[in-house]
Formats: sequence, C-alpha cells, structure tokens
Amino acid sequence: MIDLALKNVSKRFGGLLAVDKLDVEVPKGKILSLIGPNGAGKTTVFNMITGVYPPSEGTISYQGKKLNNLRSNRIIRHGIARTFQNIRLFKSMTVLENVQVGMHCRTKSGAFRALLNTPFAIREEKEIIEKSMETLEFLGLADHHNEYASNLAYGDQRRLEIARAVATRPEMLLLDEPAAGMNPSETAELMDLILKLRDTGLTIFLVEHDMRLVMGISEMVVVLDHGHKIAQGEPKEIQQNEKVIEAYLGTKVKAKA
Ligand SMILES: Nc1ncnc2c1ncn2[C@@H]1O[C@H](COP(=O)(O)OP(=O)(O)OP(=O)(O)O)[C@@H](O)[C@H]1O
Ligand SMILES: [Mg+2]
Repeated sequence: MIDLALKNVSKRFGGLLAVDKLDVEVPKGKILSLIGPNGAGKTTVFNMITGVYPPSEGTISYQGKKLNNLRSNRIIRHGIARTFQNIRLFKSMTVLENVQVGMHCRTKSGAFRALLNTPFAIREEKEIIEKSMETLEFLGLADHHNEYASNLAYGDQRRLEIARAVATRPEMLLLDEPAAGMNPSETAELMDLILKLRDTGLTIFLVEHDMRLVMGISEMVVVLDHGHKIAQGEPKEIQQNEKVIEAYLGTKVKAKA
C-alpha cells in the first residue's frame, strides 16, 4: 500500500526550478531514501510535503487525501512528522520539555484552557508528560530527561529531535540528514534506531548523504539531481547505476580519497 504519493510535483523559486515534475511513492511501513548532490532539491521536497510552502504544480497525497495547500499544523494532525537538517531544539529547555513542546500541536486544550488550569487541561498535561517519557525511553534518552538540551552530546541532540517528532505519534516520519555531523558509532546507533522505528509500523522517508546508512537500511532509493529524478530502485541497483555514479556517488568517492 502507498502511504505518500507525489505526482508531477514541481517547485519554482523565481527563475530556479528546484524540483521538476517529480513522481515518488512511499510504501507504508517501509524506508524510502531520497539522495542526491547538494542543492538537488531534497529539502524542498520535504518542505512541500509538510506545508512550508505549496508545490508550484502537481499533487501530494497522503493515504489518499490531498495535502496541497494545507498548513503545517494540519499536516502534523494527518500523522506526518519531520526533523530538520539544522537542529532546532530549544537549548535552554530540558530534554523532557523539548518533547512536551512538540506534543502540544496535538492537544485539545490549546494555550488558553491550559492557562486556566481546567481539570481537563491538567489531565491532558499529565498524559503529555507520560507519553513524552515513554518516547524518551524508546529512544534511550530517558536518563537525560532533566538535562538541558544544550548539554547533550551531539548525537543525543539529533536523537532528541527525532524523539520530539515521534512523540506526536505520527504514522510517517521525514528525516532530513539525521546523521549529519555524527561520528561512526553514533551513526551506527542511528541506523538501529531507524530500523526499530520502522519495525513499530512507521513509514520512514529519509534524506541523507551518509551512503552506508542509506544503502544499509533503505528498501527503496530515489535519486535527485538538479530537481530531476534520475533513478529509482533498490540500494544494489542504485549503487551500480551509471547515471547515479556520475552525478553523485562518484563525486563522493573522490571527495573521500
Ligand atoms: N526558499 C527558497 N528560496 C529560494 N531558493 C531556494 C529556497 N529553498 C531552496 N532553494 C534553492 O533550491 C535548490 C534546492 O535546495 P534544497 O535545499 O532543496 O537542496 P538539498 O537537496 O536539500 O541540498 P542539501 O543536500 O545541501 O541539503 C537550491 O538551489 C536552493 O538554493
Ligand atoms: Mg537539504
């Protein structure tokens, strides 16, 4: 079954065609990765899916419902959560508070009733704390719940970003370069974590430059170059695809040498 479908989706920024007639289907409960050189349009794809801006053309649908022109908070309510390429934590809040903030997008009380401290709002707050702690436990961060986010090791900060997204109990998770800046052991842990999240039934849409991570866990890989889809397939096929080697994988090998 297809969870998320992009059909003929383009994004224009003035004279620049950042995404060009893109078709992508993300199957439910699978890990699909979107890869390609810097500036290929990967983050732009995530921004269109999550309502940061609408596509210039085409349709984005999730579980059969059209998402175009919905605001970000409505899209979260449909069950899609994301992390950002640049860490966006509240550094002067604790780990637990960072997750709680992420969950408020789903509460019914809203800020006004929460301020009035109605019994309903108090009960809801208690539930949020319980669910946030459960999420932190799942991500191996429970022991740090009282620490300031700024005091966490880099890899843990990235995991906290994921915790904040997961705490909203999404069905689909978009991860934008979750391994950026991680050392090899943090990346290996991240790999296990993403697989564990997938095993809970989450659909994962991953943007990442770390090819060991991408090729190690993805069921399907889509390759973008200058906004065009140049290939799609299983990791094995993608690694041998001449167009992909020329546009992206070859340059990565050279950069490492
Ligand atoms: N809001 C914007 N306004 C104008 N141009 C933009 C905007 N967002 C992205 N772009 C341009 O669109 C192109 C695609 O950018 P995007 O951030 O999607 O690339 P990316 O594949 O995520 O790259 P990276 O791997 O470096 O993160 C780039 O040329 C970028 O400069
Ligand atoms: Mg990007």
